[in-house]
Amino acid sequence: MEYQLLTGATGLLGRYLVRDLVMEDVPLAVLVRRSRRQTPCERIESLIRTWEEKLGTTLNRPHVVEGDISQPGLGLSSDDTAWVKENCGAMIHNAASLQFISTSKESEPWRSNVQGTKYAIDFCHETNIEQFHHVSTSYTCGLRRGRILESELDVGQELGNDYERSKVQAEQMVRSAGFSKTPTIFRPAIIVGDSRTGWTTTFHNFYVILQIADTLNRQRGEPDVTGRTNVSDIQLNVDGTERKNFVPVDWVSAVMSHILTHPDLYGETYHLTPRCPITTRQLRDSVESVTKIYGLNFYGAGEVKEVKSEFEELFREHMRVYDSYWRDDPVFDSTNTRRAAPHLPCPHIDLSMLNHLSRAAIDMKFRWNDPVVKQNDHVCV
Ligand SMILES: NC(=O)c1ccc[n+]([C@@H]2O[C@H](COP(=O)([O-])OP(=O)(O)OC[C@H]3O[C@@H](n4cnc5c(N)ncnc54)[C@H](OP(=O)(O)O)[C@@H]3O)[C@@H](O)[C@H]2O)c1
Repeated sequence: MEYQLLTGATGLLGRYLVRDLVMEDVPLAVLVRRSRRQTPCERIESLIRTWEEKLGTTLNRPHVVEGDISQPGLGLSSDDTAWVKENCGAMIHNAASLQFISTSKESEPWRSNVQGTKYAIDFCHETNIEQFHHVSTSYTCGLRRGRILESELDVGQELGNDYERSKVQAEQMVRSAGFSKTPTIFRPAIIVGDSRTGWTTTFHNFYVILQIADTLNRQRGEPDVTGRTNVSDIQLNVDGTERKNFVPVDWVSAVMSHILTHPDLYGETYHLTPRCPITTRQLRDSVESVTKIYGLNFYGAGEVKEVKSEFEELFREHMRVYDSYWRDDPVFDSTNTRRAAPHLPCPHIDLSMLNHLSRAAIDMKFRWNDPVVKQNDHVCV
């Protein structure tokens, strides 16, 4: 059976895909770059061991090739390129930079998302891989309002940041790459932690507010008679009614794995979006409840307000990069996804689930490091 070659295996979504696809006995190869302290094989070995510990079972190892998607030929050695040509029938292109704002066209997110996708397409042509599965984002819709269809991409919409621009360009390149088999496009909404355990390995967007609130509470530590800390000098530049679409990482991976193991479902575009969004008011309520603060106020989206305290300045500074993210979301139509995986409804992220996710992140102190595995501890397949 042919291998599927996955990029981005060490990221939040990628490590769930590794777990789910390996458990489905899919022959899997992963393209991984070296980290400062670990080789690609060591990185995969340590993340597999993390899964084995969590699941209490042993897992097969994927085949590892060392590469970097921002390099021509994805930076593979000629031996590894030959191995891929011999063994791989599909690429799951999931690697990307999640940096929102770039400093130049040569920097991230352009380098990995646009140049990297071009190199991934070229590499597939060179190695005769005709089936391309691409992880995009539902936010390729940019600042559109109303209902967003899975069949739509560029309708002349304004985009919110460089990340969204780079992901639109990448998706356009994939669609026009001339593969003989129509590419599959996955468009997740905002990915958060595991719906059951709350576990996550990255702490973007909502987690940033939570972390600042948690830090503020620890630094101030002045609960009043309510037993909570009053932070009413801090205001958020939203009005509480904005809808946001959060999806748990385990669900995104479960749906993708189902589609990836059913070739009759290939070649479509899938919005991996929730049935019901949450509001910025619910997010605020969860942050307050879990960090034991109160008084976080809204002063309305887009309004300019004088910053009065050093804590508020800190809050605003950290939030600025996400300003474009806190706008009201449109409605994502997910007809294709519901048709392909009717048995996998998205777990509803309500206030109690948000609190669960928030507590897990605080318990993890907003960081995750896989255990260090030494080279001679394992054999790389
Ligand atoms: N997170 C979200 O809310 C969200 C929402 C919608 C869509 N998505 C899309 O989902 C996909 C996965 O996102 P994620 O949240 O799992 O991101 P993540 O945790 O930041 O992981 C990114 C992965 O891409 C790899 N990568 C980045 N640049 C690379 C390069 N030049 N060469 C090789 N590997 C590279 C990273 O490798 P290292 O470990 O070596 O850095 C990591 O494995 C992305 O395509 C993203 O655009 C994410």
